[in-house]
Amino acid sequence: MTTTTSGLDVGTIREDFPILSRLVHGDKHLVYLDNAATSQKPRQVIDAIVEYYEKHNANVHRGIHTLAEEATALYEGARDKMARFINAPNRDEVVFTKNTSEAINLVARVLGDPGHAYRIGPGDEIVITEMEHHSNIVPWHLLAERTGATVKWFSITDEGRLDLSELDSVITERTKIVSMVHVSNLLGTINPVETVIERAHQVGALVLLDASQSAPHLPLDVAALGADFVAITCHKMLAPTGIGVLWARLPLLQELPPFLGGGEMIEVVTMEKSTFAQPPHKFEAGTPPIAEAVGLGAAVDYLTAIGMPAIAAHEHELTAYALDALSSVEGLRIIGPSTAEGRVAEISFTLDGVHPHDVGQILDEQGIAVRVGHHCARPAVLHYGIPATTRASFYLYNTTAEADALVAGLAQVKKVFG
Ligand code: ALA
Repeated sequence: MTTTTSGLDVGTIREDFPILSRLVHGDKHLVYLDNAATSQKPRQVIDAIVEYYEKHNANVHRGIHTLAEEATALYEGARDKMARFINAPNRDEVVFTKNTSEAINLVARVLGDPGHAYRIGPGDEIVITEMEHHSNIVPWHLLAERTGATVKWFSITDEGRLDLSELDSVITERTKIVSMVHVSNLLGTINPVETVIERAHQVGALVLLDASQSAPHLPLDVAALGADFVAITCHKMLAPTGIGVLWARLPLLQELPPFLGGGEMIEVVTMEKSTFAQPPHKFEAGTPPIAEAVGLGAAVDYLTAIGMPAIAAHEHELTAYALDALSSVEGLRIIGPSTAEGRVAEISFTLDGVHPHDVGQILDEQGIAVRVGHHCARPAVLHYGIPATTRASFYLYNTTAEADALVAGLAQVKKVFG
């Protein structure tokens, strides 16, 4: 049993994740530190998906037979669970998407479409930050090109924090939407989103939070945060790939036009025109990711049973431990906040004289999985005058022994390239 001072029984948790006991490269124990890219899945999630296909598989909202009713109850049950998990005031505010990219593209696309009170047009301003990953940059570039709006951004400090010194000049009366990351996938920084939300709302702008890297690691309360939209990709929080969530305030979802057209998002269709269903169905065209939603429901049950505050406390300890351990490696530079305060256990670094791809390869030979490259956040990486980093990202099942294994692995990297 591996129990941390935060009280999390990590040894028992690890037994729920079959993949964590696999060996790689022959006899090397897997040390999985690529959780910011995707998390591993517990047996409970895998079993829920298998059981769904073995016993309940049918299309949802369309049938009156037993399986269709069971599949619909499971799919809508996952929405209820997710609504509770993020403290959504209303379950109809939870729209299932494919991932965060689709959730943000949905918002960026419909804001440029005609026929609603929030339409973005020429002269309007869209505000993002330099620490966004490409999912929260490219959709806004596309919207700006389509509408004649302008994209502005907050820059980052050398310590990896958001530079809000020009809050009032970046967000102005022209700002229509501020779209920002809650927790940076490159730097691990937890952003002071309340300050930005307050300023944005003062000027009447909407706020979208990208919670891809916060929902898995921190208690998330969309009602308390006060943003207008929150985007989440669920495969980073123990659920399968192929399912994400867009949460938005209900009046916004009612006002905004649909994104994709197709089955199940309609009210009435004639040969001349279509009218649309109420949210969330208005934004869920076609057969949705049903088995994936069932897996998400099981993931939410799993995280809820352990408790997000306990998970956050465990990861906070891991962050402090790993940062301290990494600081003993000569020539290692942390890219991002160097203390555990206001950050999560997604730790980017460079190693003097060794390209991150070589670091990743030598670590992999020792069974240690990390991500190398620009982490789909190229502008943020370029800010530091480097082309790439190595990123070790931890989750609820990781241990301090694995942080030690990373440090030992880096000693081996230095031996090879020394
Ligand atoms: N955005 C994901 C990552 O940071 C894919 O790895």
